[in-house]
Amino acid sequence: MCGIVGCIGKKEAQPYLISGLHRLEYRGYDSSGIVTINEKSATLLRAKGKVSELEKLADKQPSKDTIGIGHTRWATHGEPSEINAHPHQAGDVYLVHNGIIENYKELKTGLKNHVFVSQTDTEVLAALVDSFYGEGTELVDAVTQALQLVVGTYGIAVVSVRNPDEIIVARAGSPLIIGIGSDETYIASDASALIGYTTQAIYLNDGEIAICRRDGVTLRDLAAQPISSRVETIEIDMQAIQKQGYDHFLLKEICEQPVTLRSTLSGRVNVEDEQVKLGGLNLSVKEIRDIEHVTIIGCGTAYYAGLLGSYYLEQLVDDLTVDVAMASELRYRSFHLPKNTVALVISQSGETADTLACLRELKRRGVKTLGIINAVGSTIAREVDGGVYVHAGPEISVASTKAFTSQAVTIAMFGVQIAQAKGSSAKDVAKFIQELDQLPNEIEAVIKNYKEKIADIAKRYAHYEHAIFFGRDTLYPVALEGALKLKEISYIQAEGFAAGELKHGPIALVDDTFFEVALILDNWLFDKSLSALAEVNARGGHVIAITNSKKQIDAEEILVIDTKLDLLAPLVLNVAQQLFAYYVTVAKGFDVDQPRNLAKSVTVE
Ligand code: F6R
Repeated sequence: MCGIVGCIGKKEAQPYLISGLHRLEYRGYDSSGIVTINEKSATLLRAKGKVSELEKLADKQPSKDTIGIGHTRWATHGEPSEINAHPHQAGDVYLVHNGIIENYKELKTGLKNHVFVSQTDTEVLAALVDSFYGEGTELVDAVTQALQLVVGTYGIAVVSVRNPDEIIVARAGSPLIIGIGSDETYIASDASALIGYTTQAIYLNDGEIAICRRDGVTLRDLAAQPISSRVETIEIDMQAIQKQGYDHFLLKEICEQPVTLRSTLSGRVNVEDEQVKLGGLNLSVKEIRDIEHVTIIGCGTAYYAGLLGSYYLEQLVDDLTVDVAMASELRYRSFHLPKNTVALVISQSGETADTLACLRELKRRGVKTLGIINAVGSTIAREVDGGVYVHAGPEISVASTKAFTSQAVTIAMFGVQIAQAKGSSAKDVAKFIQELDQLPNEIEAVIKNYKEKIADIAKRYAHYEHAIFFGRDTLYPVALEGALKLKEISYIQAEGFAAGELKHGPIALVDDTFFEVALILDNWLFDKSLSALAEVNARGGHVIAITNSKKQIDAEEILVIDTKLDLLAPLVLNVAQQLFAYYVTVAKGFDVDQPRNLAKSVTVE
């Protein structure tokens, strides 16, 4: 949430700052700004709106300075405006910040010498640093003293005209990565901004401060004690962060699912031996066999993937109980977990603040935690006891698609591994393994064979104001996910329901301003699904049925997806829903990849 960039080297800083902000724009895009400095002056540019607005300013005011920092914002304190955009200035200090300074009001009352111009908590932090930055004080010491008083979360980068040879960065709860170039040092809140500039990076830990110079980096803690640095290699290639000919990242990410899913499964599912082996769990066979309860935690789409995964775990393992919790709720609940619980912590970004808070609480209670994470090197991935990278590659579009599929599949693989360790449910296990192996091809076929038909249906339903998605059993989480995808990018008010729940209230909504998406599988619940559909039809619903069944179904529009799969068919139908949400949004002419009010990677509460 919000993006930070910075660089110090021999080359002009401005081009990197602008290009880095473009790459991080998906993390927040209501305003942006950069400052570059030299020993005499600073060039501060800020603009409301997208980074392209800032770029126009930079084109008019190019700077030759070789040190600078930048920020793209997702507003927390203060409306999106130029005045609230970062960097914030106080005296000689310029500061960009991700996170929330919780005690900013209290700190502000002590800062009488600064005239506040914005409504942000960040300006308070800038003024606090400035208040310690007296004659003869090092910038890093001023930052350290200020941070000792701060309650909250931050990733910050600070520069000063009085010290044009250093960028000071610090982290507590908001990710920051320092890229090591040959004559340059880069700063980014997300590795994607570093691709093409360097592959060597230091992932800052909470409580660490880095002094970034042209020729290297020094790390220390908040007590000014030195810390040895750990340089790691970033393994993301340029293609992964480019649209590669697609109109939008979202379409690219939907369409690349066959490939990303093969990466998720690769080396883990062995069809010949009917085995699944997830490396990285850090659990012995005995420990896996002893698992009695699995608790699954995530937010948004990751939570829905967890919910779908919970059905799979129950199908796969007889003597296992499972619960699923939204991290934003769980973190404040007085929850109790049975003994021999393993927690699955699901997150695409690996940085979601609520999910991270739950992880830390679970660890505090001694619960074994396993991550199902996409972003390599992310905070959650680093803090879990063990886990699995889903290897879906960078997700740039704000709406999560390919990560959902890979997360659900990874939970299914985990279920197979538990079932095999316990020696239970042999029949379903074999079927799951076969379907896991076939899933990439099945998804490939949906994308190839149904894209145009779905685009056509989407165009005809794009004018509706409201939508209801419903499905039973494994299609219930898929209905929730379908509704989330549609609402977050097309702004059609959409809700997902368990089909059996419609008659308990939601069916009252059905009128001509609504359309409904009925998800139906040709399985033992087929007739039950038809009953829910009939009830909606009887009330004048405008139903699109998405199904794998060739049997007679009564709906305004029917999309029959031809798939051989049974247990994993929900993931195939979900891809059709993803395409549907995409094409509705295109038809409405909205910004597909950067929907209003949202940002990728929610690192604040
Ligand atoms: C929806 C979406 C969000 C995320 C949620 C969790 O399309 O992207 O609901 O799924 O913010 O994010 P991660 O998975 O990064 O923890």
